[in-house]
Amino acid sequence: MGSSADGRVVWITGAGSGIGRAAAIEAAAAGWRVALTGRREAALEATADAVREAGGSALVLPGDATSDPVVRASLERIDATWGRLDALVLAAGLNAPERRWADHDLPTFDEIVRVNLTGPAHLVTEALPLLRASGGVVVFVSSYSAWAFNPIAGVAYSASKAGLSALSRTLNAQEAVAGVRSCHLCPGDVNTDFLGHRPQVPSDDARAVMLQPADVARSIRFVLEAPAHVRFDELVVSPVSQT
Ligand SMILES: NC(=O)c1ccc[n+]([C@@H]2O[C@H](COP(=O)([O-])OP(=O)(O)OC[C@H]3O[C@@H](n4cnc5c(N)ncnc54)[C@H](OP(=O)(O)O)[C@@H]3O)[C@@H](O)[C@H]2O)c1
Repeated sequence: MGSSADGRVVWITGAGSGIGRAAAIEAAAAGWRVALTGRREAALEATADAVREAGGSALVLPGDATSDPVVRASLERIDATWGRLDALVLAAGLNAPERRWADHDLPTFDEIVRVNLTGPAHLVTEALPLLRASGGVVVFVSSYSAWAFNPIAGVAYSASKAGLSALSRTLNAQEAVAGVRSCHLCPGDVNTDFLGHRPQVPSDDARAVMLQPADVARSIRFVLEAPAHVRFDELVVSPVSQT
C-alpha cells in the first residue's frame, strides 16, 4: 500500500456515494484500511472495488448506521477482522425539500435528526472503547450551515448539524484524556447526490463551481493524518463561490 497510515483503520458511514466514497478512496490511498457502511450494498461494493483497485483494503458492512444492532455488529466485524479502529468518518446524512416550519412534517423532522445527530451519538458511544484504545480521531461531517446560520438549510437539518458541534466539543473536552480527538467538519456546497434534497435542485453550471467530493476528502485526510498531539476542533471548507 505504500502506507503512511501504517495499517490504521477508519470506519466511514455514507461510504457508498459522495463525500463518504471519496473519503474512503482518499484514505485508502494514504494507507488506511477502510470499513464502509451505508444501506445500499451495491454502492458500497463499488466503493470497495475502487479502493482495492488502488491497492487498498476494504470491508463492506452494509446497513443502517442509525441502528444500534447494526453498529454493534459492524464494530465486532471490524475488531475481528483488523483488531483495531483508529478513526470514524461520519458522513451519512439526510435532508428534505420541505425545510420550513410552514411545510415540514414531524416524522421527517425526527428522521433527519435521527440520521444526522442521534445516529452519530449512538455510533460514537459504541465505538469509544476501540477509539480510546487507539487514541482515535472522529470526523463529524457536519455543514457550513452549522458554522454560519443559513436560512435555507432547513429547520431539522440546521438543528441536527448544529448539534454535531456539541457532540464534537464534548467529546474533545471529555475524551482528550484518552487521546481521542474530534473534528466538526463544515463543508459548504458540494456537488453530490445530496443536492437532490433541495427544493430547487442546482443546475450543472451551479454544481461546477461547488466543491467536489474529492476536495472534502482531502480535508478529511488532512484531519486523519494529523500527529497524535494535534487536533482540528473545527474545519470549514467551502468553494469560493459560497455565499
Ligand atoms: N453535498 C453538500 O452540499 C453537503 C454540504 C455540507 C455537508 N454535507 C453533508 O455531507 C454528508 C455526505 O453527503 P454527500 O453530500 O456526500 O451526499 P450523498 O452522496 O447523498 O451521501 C449521503 C450518504 O448517506 C448515506 N445514508 C443516509 N442515511 C443513512 C443511514 N440511515 N445509514 C447509513 N447510511 C446512510 C447514503 O447512503 P445509503 O442511501 O446507501 O444509506 C449516502 O451514501 C451528509 O452528512 C451531508 O449532510 C453535504
